[in-house]
Amino acid sequence: MAVILFCFLAAVATAVGGSGSPFDELVQASWATDHILYDGDLLKLKLDSSSGAGFASKKRYLYGKATAEMKLVGGDSAGTVTAFYMSSEGANHLNHNEFDFEFLGNTTGEPYLVQTNVYVNGIGNREQRMDLWFDPTADFHAYSILWNPQQVVFLVDETPIRVFKNKEAKGIAFPGDQSMAVYSSLWNADDWATQGGRVKTDWSHAPFIVTYRGLKIDGCELSVEAAVEEEVRRCRGSDSGKEGRYWWKTPMMEELSVHQSHQLMWVRAKHLIYDYCFDAARFPVAPPECGR
Ligand SMILES: *[C@@H]1O[C@H](CO)[C@@H](O)[C@H](O)[C@H]1NC(C)=O
Repeated sequence: MAVILFCFLAAVATAVGGSGSPFDELVQASWATDHILYDGDLLKLKLDSSSGAGFASKKRYLYGKATAEMKLVGGDSAGTVTAFYMSSEGANHLNHNEFDFEFLGNTTGEPYLVQTNVYVNGIGNREQRMDLWFDPTADFHAYSILWNPQQVVFLVDETPIRVFKNKEAKGIAFPGDQSMAVYSSLWNADDWATQGGRVKTDWSHAPFIVTYRGLKIDGCELSVEAAVEEEVRRCRGSDSGKEGRYWWKTPMMEELSVHQSHQLMWVRAKHLIYDYCFDAARFPVAPPECGR
């Protein structure tokens, strides 16, 4: 009896704790605190029939790179979606900007899909979908978003899978005037996520768990004390600040290297499943940034 009671208390302590966790410095729960578990150096989000969960960075950034090392829901993950994204305001804010990774679960043994999207001034509809060259549920992999004045790059284990270039010179809007926070969440989306919504979440396999081993955010942090306009000017203008050198804005980061361009071509040739730029049924006139 004593042993059982002890285990119970220990489980409760890790569930609500988190102080001392390496994630504490960077992020906080944004919803369903009771579905966020700290397990040593790991952080876990849990989805069951009562709730999913999510966390958000404590700070906001203007340009930078955010990386999450994640192991996605294993086994039957159909109906679940795990998101890792940067967003300028709440997703419902009218003119918000957002860069999304969405991992769409699947039935046991069937491949996850990775959907990426870019919102500029409140408008998204820029989905791309791919499968991966590994099983994202078997081990941790690094998913990154790089954002600077020239481009937004989505990377998987440092391999670029998508680039959204700044084409402001051609009159195409590019996000650069609003700071962003970094978010991640796990929720039920069985109305659309898996095979177009045909496969529903099987709650007998709950709880569904996604595990984070690391989270790294290098970026120009907006100070809460200073005026926002001043901070925007600082982060956009200078090459370094209190965070040190703004390496994510250096000339090397302005475009892909030759090696990275080859990697991107390989990924697109082997793993691309859907690209809105080529969806003529949906966009009879190609979106301007697609340059079709
Ligand atoms: C799930 O697996 C099926 C069959 O392999 C595949 O067609 C589909 O794209 C996969 N992913 C999702 C999210 O449905």
